[in-house]
Amino acid sequence: MKHRKLFMTILTLVGGMALIVAGCSNSQQNAVPKIQTNIPDAEPDSKVWGKVFPLQYESYLKNNEATTETRYGGSKPVSKYLTQPLLPELFKGYGFALEYNEDRGHTYSVEDVTHIKRINDKSPSSCWNCKSSDNVKLWAAEGKDYFKVPFKQRLDQIKHPIGCANCHDAKTMDLKVTNPNFIDSAKRLNIDLSKATKQEMRTYVCAQCHNEYYFKPGTMEVTNPWDKGFNPDEMVTYYNEIQFSDWQHPDSKTKMIKAQHPEFEMFKSGTHGANGVSCADCHMPYERDKDKKKYSSHHWTSPLKNIEQSCRTCHRDKTADELKTRVEYTQVKVYETMIKAQEASNAAHKAVKAALEVPEADQNAIKQAQDLIRKAQFEWDFVAAENSMGFHNPSLALETLAKSIDNSRQAQLIAEKITKK
Ligand code: HEC
Ligand code: HEC
Ligand code: HEC
Ligand code: HEC
Repeated sequence: MKHRKLFMTILTLVGGMALIVAGCSNSQQNAVPKIQTNIPDAEPDSKVWGKVFPLQYESYLKNNEATTETRYGGSKPVSKYLTQPLLPELFKGYGFALEYNEDRGHTYSVEDVTHIKRINDKSPSSCWNCKSSDNVKLWAAEGKDYFKVPFKQRLDQIKHPIGCANCHDAKTMDLKVTNPNFIDSAKRLNIDLSKATKQEMRTYVCAQCHNEYYFKPGTMEVTNPWDKGFNPDEMVTYYNEIQFSDWQHPDSKTKMIKAQHPEFEMFKSGTHGANGVSCADCHMPYERDKDKKKYSSHHWTSPLKNIEQSCRTCHRDKTADELKTRVEYTQVKVYETMIKAQEASNAAHKAVKAALEVPEADQNAIKQAQDLIRKAQFEWDFVAAENSMGFHNPSLALETLAKSIDNSRQAQLIAEKITKK
């Protein structure tokens, strides 16, 4: 016991040191004289900002790199159906059964959203919400009316992909959250964004887009389902209480929920999130120009493309190869379990489909099975739609998949009892 206590004290001290080191580099930055620019407020064109900040702008242009693949990520926009063949079946009756690709750099956001088959004449502006620096001015001018305007009516208003105005105040260059959904969520959760630390802001500017959301029925406002908490269970409870669904699956006639890209929620309770590491720590490592001037990389991409800068700043005791092996160890386990969860989900849809064909089937039992299917599919989708293949939070990813498989198999058992009667 004594040894254990000593060990814990050392651990705490070491942890404290790591934080102090991280703290130092932040306060050094605080010491940099305040910036004052003449860039117009919310300027949508990143090129204009680039004239004042060429280093950041040059690294931003690297987001155009779209050929590198990693084992489960990278920037090549390949179809997710290649590695998850059941997706079209599981999303049957919904846009994600038409086309669903691996994500790529921020500079492609406008091009990709305008060409994806999921967009149709009924799509609202809400689909533009996370795609463009032009939004910042539009939100200021239109408020909540922004969301209802049809997507296609904005094709000549929205030209610029995600850019400087999405995250920075033009005059001071301070980090700034601009997306209305995140500002609203913070208010509902009593988080005062004006008092957030710089380290928190280095996550919040990403979290404003990389999160789970739904379009509020009626107003089409992009809204985060966080009132009960950030875990998948708590979000399903929230969606059930407001009786929200994205579509009905034609086989099991279940009212379904599509998970979006819950990077923030997944990361938050993971080892790094819980230890105060920010998204920018791994995804925006410091670089130096030829005169050794330090700046933050604005090439937001897979850290596995540059483990040396992205991870070894903190994990000096491991080689880049060891770190990559560690990431892939987690990802392979999560991927294989996720495929099993998708198979279980598919079996459940099919079993309920068969049960629905039984005359005078017990409707309560069917409803019970459908509720389980709804939850199970959101659970595996929470992991599948999140873009790190479990790395951001291995334990939450595997726990959520285990619950998903259990819920699907329970639904299948209930349905098979009806069919075998
Ligand atoms: C400890 C380092 C670390 C932190 C912190 C971190 N990530 Fe990641 N992120 C990774 C790794 C590693 C991957 C997996 C990349 C791969 O598979 O190629 C990843 C993948 C991603 C991807 C998909 C990249 C791709 O290649 O398609 C996105 C998007 C992402 N992270 C966003 C975020 C956001 C947003 C946050 C904060 C809420 C965050 N990350 C925090 C390390 C990190
Ligand atoms: C997705 C959010 C995001 C976007 C978009 C963005 N930045 Fe940044 N920027 C950051 C973060 C995070 C930091 C680190 C801030 C810190 O640690 O204080 C940063 C830091 C900076 C700094 C401070 C010096 C440095 O390098 O750390 C400058 C200058 C800057 N960005 C310029 C730009 C320019 C120019 C653009 C557009 C081409 C841009 N940023 C787009 C998030 C963003
Ligand atoms: C305005 C919304 C928005 C903000 C802010 C934002 N992202 Fe993104 N991010 C996106 C979208 C949309 C995509 C997918 C673009 C595509 O595939 O066309 C994306 C893609 C990515 C990718 C995948 C790139 C690749 O090469 O596969 C990473 C990594 C990423 N973002 C990290 C971050 C980090 C880190 C931050 C904060 C510093 C951040 N993002 C802030 C919307 C945003
Ligand atoms: C800002 C510092 C920082 C950065 C950058 C960072 N980590 Fe970590 N990492 C930590 C801390 C703190 C812990 C938890 C305490 C510990 O075990 O050292 C941790 C724990 C881990 C663990 C063990 C726990 C787990 O979740 O499996 C792995 C693996 C890991 N990091 C990999 C990476 C990889 C890969 C990268 C780059 C993509 C990275 N880290 C970037 C600080 C960092």
